[in-house]
Amino acid sequence: MDKERGKRVGIVGAGNVGATVAYSLAMLGSCHEIILRDNKIDVARGKALDMSQAASAVRSHTVVSVAEDMSELDDCDVVVVTAGSPRLPGMSRDDLLMINAKITKEVIVGIAQYSPHAIIIMVSNPLDAMTYVALKESGFDRSRVIGMAGILDSSRMASFIQEKLGYGGGQIRASVMGGHGDDMVPLPRYSTVAGVPLSDVLTDAEIEEVVDRTRHGGAEIVGHLKIGSAYYAPAKSTAIMVEAILKDTKQIHPCAVFLDGEYGYKDIVSGVPVMLGANGAEKIIEVTLNDNEKAMFKRSCDSVQELIDALNENKFFKGK
Ligand code: LAC
Repeated sequence: MDKERGKRVGIVGAGNVGATVAYSLAMLGSCHEIILRDNKIDVARGKALDMSQAASAVRSHTVVSVAEDMSELDDCDVVVVTAGSPRLPGMSRDDLLMINAKITKEVIVGIAQYSPHAIIIMVSNPLDAMTYVALKESGFDRSRVIGMAGILDSSRMASFIQEKLGYGGGQIRASVMGGHGDDMVPLPRYSTVAGVPLSDVLTDAEIEEVVDRTRHGGAEIVGHLKIGSAYYAPAKSTAIMVEAILKDTKQIHPCAVFLDGEYGYKDIVSGVPVMLGANGAEKIIEVTLNDNEKAMFKRSCDSVQELIDALNENKFFKGK
């Protein structure tokens, strides 16, 4: 890799999430260059110029540019993939799965060709299944293909706890594991307010409300926005992962990774605590779960498995 070139971050999909990831990184000055790739090339050009100018305004050195095609997304240190179709009226969950799996495959083949040393962060939905597709299609080591969702879901839970309590903002550590779906696994037992266990400050019923709201946190926002889904928190959560990798922080974040025996699962992607560093998901932390938590984690893995099974039934991985 050409070290003189500085850190390069590619972002595929310059819609609300992709553009907000770029904006967040540009404001932080996290990298030398951000390259946006989107089929709507003029929109990407406009956003790139706008963001480079915003970076100048805050005296950040980051430049935001546009890739005309995947070959210009070359030699990136990190590539974020947000490309995908939203669920349109009349589209089944499986239809969306197949459409986004095909888009992901196309994008991943390009990344593997032009940025073979990159760490890939998947953001497209259904998140865990798309991370699985990205891993299989890239042929990368599992440490270099990581899905974003755990930071988002934990942040949602923390914000709901703050809303219930009316205090503690910024001091709440909420923990969510499992896939990014209705079966996600919020873990009140591992959630604290300034180190104080959640059960000391909220009743069981209140905790149950927080858990339920967390599971449907994405849908709650779609319900308000009507056309489209959340992007500020998803984008910030992604930017946190990019920063952790570029700065080699070795900090622990919940991320979606391929399990190879951890938690008793193999050949599946799920959200678990992961140490992020320059080499991507450098270590998977195995948290002790009680029987109830294990059962919830299993339900969540079963849901992801159903999607992978659907891909296999449609011969998606044919020839692999
Ligand atoms: C969310 C969707 C976009 O959780 O996954 O907001």
